[in-house]
Amino acid sequence: MGIRGKDLFDVDDLEASDVKEIFERAQFFKRHGLQKWTSLKGKSICTLFFESSTRTRISFELAAKRLGADIINFTASTSSLNKGESFKDTVKTLDAMGIDLYVIRHSEPGSPVMMKKYTNSPVINAGDGVHAHPTQALLDAYTIWEKFGNFNIKIVIIGDILHSRVARSDAKLLKMLGADVTLAGPESFVPSYFENYGVRISHNIEKSISESDIVMGLRVQLERQSGGFFPTLDEYNEFYGINSKRMKMAKNPIFMHPGPMNRGVEVMEEVSDSDSSAVEEQVTNGVFVRMALLDLILGGVTN
Ligand code: CP
Repeated sequence: MGIRGKDLFDVDDLEASDVKEIFERAQFFKRHGLQKWTSLKGKSICTLFFESSTRTRISFELAAKRLGADIINFTASTSSLNKGESFKDTVKTLDAMGIDLYVIRHSEPGSPVMMKKYTNSPVINAGDGVHAHPTQALLDAYTIWEKFGNFNIKIVIIGDILHSRVARSDAKLLKMLGADVTLAGPESFVPSYFENYGVRISHNIEKSISESDIVMGLRVQLERQSGGFFPTLDEYNEFYGINSKRMKMAKNPIFMHPGPMNRGVEVMEEVSDSDSSAVEEQVTNGVFVRMALLDLILGGVTN
């Protein structure tokens, strides 16, 4: 079946065989480096970012351009939404101009599903509130696959799990692929209901790090908090920050972070900028994974 013509709201929309196909296509593109393709020539892709982004928006734009597609960036602040036009009419208007695929980021969970009510074109979720970030999960999993060749690994994801769409999508996808996943941090950030994802919960980050092949840090999402989760940023760093002393407790200390990072809060530069850091590889892989997704969903022919 594959993912041709499909939406991507979260990783649940994918079978393991789809993930394999995406990884193989991403690997194919990566082998060819910065080569440009014409497989999506004549296709129009529209990104709608109602929330800030650097990595996701630019990598989708680069991915579309490298495949020969036309890419349009919808800017909410200068659109007719400001004149009171509804979201429904906005999407219907874009559709009437012939958009073949939408990429949407929004602070409200479920926005991509709502968008789909007004269009027949595929919709990719580029992050909806605290709910899901499936393309980040795919690029994180791809980075692990590239390094280890399989998912027989232990990973601990440390930080603001409560407010993290990345933690939710990563946990689901990595579990589906067979990884041993622990979510760790202070109790206020890692409530016990996360066990429903089939992962381990830990409030002892040093023990979790010592048992893991990969340590993933997550940003403390100051913009999604009303306070009261921890006393001060300095104390958060002292008790839960990822530093070189803690990383030396790991078996094979690969550090990952979806970005953006709060340096000196959830991670120290001695780790984020070290040889064990895969942060920039994650960003590089994000372009190739998004190329693979766009190519497969829109039915491009690349080889
Ligand atoms: N990881 C991630 O989603 O980063 P951006 O917010 O910069 O897109």
